[in-house]
Amino acid sequence: MEDPIFFRRHSKRSFLDKPVPEDALLRILEAARWAPSANNNQPWRFIVVREPQRLQAFREALNRGNRWAWKAPVLIAVCARAEDDFVRKDDPVTYHLFACGLAVENLLLAAVEEGLMGHPMAGYSAPKVKEALGIPEAYSVVVVIALGYEGPIDLLDEETRAKDERPRTRKPFAETVSWDCWAFGEGAGGE
Ligand SMILES: Cc1cc2nc3c(=O)[nH]c(=O)nc-3n(C[C@H](O)[C@H](O)[C@H](O)COP(=O)(O)O)c2cc1C
Repeated sequence: MEDPIFFRRHSKRSFLDKPVPEDALLRILEAARWAPSANNNQPWRFIVVREPQRLQAFREALNRGNRWAWKAPVLIAVCARAEDDFVRKDDPVTYHLFACGLAVENLLLAAVEEGLMGHPMAGYSAPKVKEALGIPEAYSVVVVIALGYEGPIDLLDEETRAKDERPRTRKPFAETVSWDCWAFGEGAGGE
């Protein structure tokens, strides 16, 4: 496989001040909404923000460390509520969040396909995002995504540039994958 799309996706921080075409945005959201979910319950709700006043209120809800995201022309709040979960009784798995993760990865990969970059963030004030976008109390803001065209790294301030210059890494393969039984140390060998 040559340079598959999931290796081209990355979370960098420099965005161009260039609008995202409506048709590209719609294709990206279509990809997100066709993600699988338990019982096909589709618990995700995407609030796609472009309108200047609303966008500014949303930006102000981001943490200081995510100030780079102010340049992104689109911010998306991914929301869900526990009530929409598929609940299993033998393990405390929260499938509504799992489904949001699947939908968000679809969204991020579709953005790459469109020549865009999506950067997920947990660094925001949830109450402020809820207030800015009128999100009901029962819903959580699962993640926020900055979306736009990637810009050159030299548009970033020094501190943010240093973050983007750090090499992207992953834990060693064997730390997160085992064959045939649990082999990660704790409880290894199916004890
Ligand atoms: C749920 C979630 C929350 C994240 N929160 C932030 C954030 O607040 N600020 C930030 O700069 N990056 C954030 N990231 C991006 C991660 O740092 C990034 O995905 C990780 O370092 C792996 O890099 P990659 O996406 O380029 O593969 C977040 C990613 C996820 C999935």
